Amino acid sequence: MEAYLGEWLGLMVRWFHVIAGVAWIGASFYFVWLDNHLREPPEWKKQEGIKGDLWAIHGGGIYEVAKYQLGPREMPRELHWFKWEAYSTWLSGMALLFLVYYLGSPGYLIDPSRADISVGAGVAIGLGTLAAVMVVYEGLIRSPLANNGKAFGLVLFAILLLVDWGLFQVFSGRGAYIHVGAVIGTIMVANVFLGIIPSQRALVNAVNEGREPDERVAKLAALAKLRSTHNNYLTLPVIFIMISNHYPMLYGHPHGWAILAAIGFITAFARHYFNLRHRDINRPSILVASAAMTVVLIWVIAPTPSTSASTDSAAVSDEIVTEIVETHCVACHAESPSHPGFQSAPAGIRLDDLSLLASHSGTVRQAAVDTHYMPLGNSKGMTEEERTQLGQWLNAH
Ligand code: HEC
Repeated sequence: MEAYLGEWLGLMVRWFHVIAGVAWIGASFYFVWLDNHLREPPEWKKQEGIKGDLWAIHGGGIYEVAKYQLGPREMPRELHWFKWEAYSTWLSGMALLFLVYYLGSPGYLIDPSRADISVGAGVAIGLGTLAAVMVVYEGLIRSPLANNGKAFGLVLFAILLLVDWGLFQVFSGRGAYIHVGAVIGTIMVANVFLGIIPSQRALVNAVNEGREPDERVAKLAALAKLRSTHNNYLTLPVIFIMISNHYPMLYGHPHGWAILAAIGFITAFARHYFNLRHRDINRPSILVASAAMTVVLIWVIAPTPSTSASTDSAAVSDEIVTEIVETHCVACHAESPSHPGFQSAPAGIRLDDLSLLASHSGTVRQAAVDTHYMPLGNSKGMTEEERTQLGQWLNAH
């Protein structure tokens, strides 16, 4: 019953997290688009302090949007802020991190073959990394490095690369991926909370008090713009990480950290194409290069034929494979799992019968032969030999 209710709680929080994330990234995409499509307003609007004009049609109505150089002469009674989308995405994401990785099945977080640490140590490393990276980032953005956008971008990439590699040494592939995602999400929400919102508040205060925004307000605004640019480049990688937990071929790969770094780089680079295009600079070579890098990546990380399609397949008997699966898989992958953490067969995959095993041959090979993603946590120590035997049996069926 506990596991069952736990599943429901996880489902609710995940659902909410996705909705909040859609609202956050959706609003962020919309405002980037808006900014990039503003046109010069007619003279009478300029007199009002309006610097950009945009007309749009949506949902059966025509909208007129005006962006002020600084602000209107008088603040409207109601001004909409966009911050709860960001905060609720982060809060629900942290709740999920706890539910799934810290309180859930330890196999999600820890891979004893990589580092045999306790869940407590894993939690300390995970949360410690989130806090440390945020502090470093906040330090850097207040340093002279913030004056050089390109150098900052490179330093940020190097930091994330180090975090990615480091976490891969102590966590399971999936645990490492999700923590890189949480690190990026934390930087993004800190950008909103510690930079963008305070800068907006300073601007609103200046307008309210009827003063011209001074140097301090202008400086805050310039930093807020840099933070917002970082968030813009980080959106695609962070969404990739959110969905990556469905793809053991990536995080279960022995060089999963390098794959994540490559995909992060390629997606941020592809985002650059759209950012340039919004500024009327069209550089399709960026998209072509991104696509070419993706093809190279797919080719480089393809499973090697020696593990997945060995020809020596007749040797493994049904008895041997039954024993392997009974020992290493069936505690979880059965109609009613005996493992206390699971209420029903994980991922809907039952392996308590050889015909079922054969029917899942492709995914089983990927999860337990080509990668070491399964058995989750590998508590009974499945050996290389057993993996090879399982692969050979699968080839023959
Ligand atoms: C401790 C419990 C546990 C054990 C033992 C276990 N699994 Fe899993 N398995 C899971 C969970 C949980 C998932 C769902 C993971 C996810 O959501 O990515 C899963 C998912 C899978 C998947 C689907 C992967 C995908 O692509 O989404 C396959 C295939 C699989 N397991 C095969 C195996 C095999 C083969 C074994 C034995 C060698 C095994 N599992 C042992 C818990 C377990």
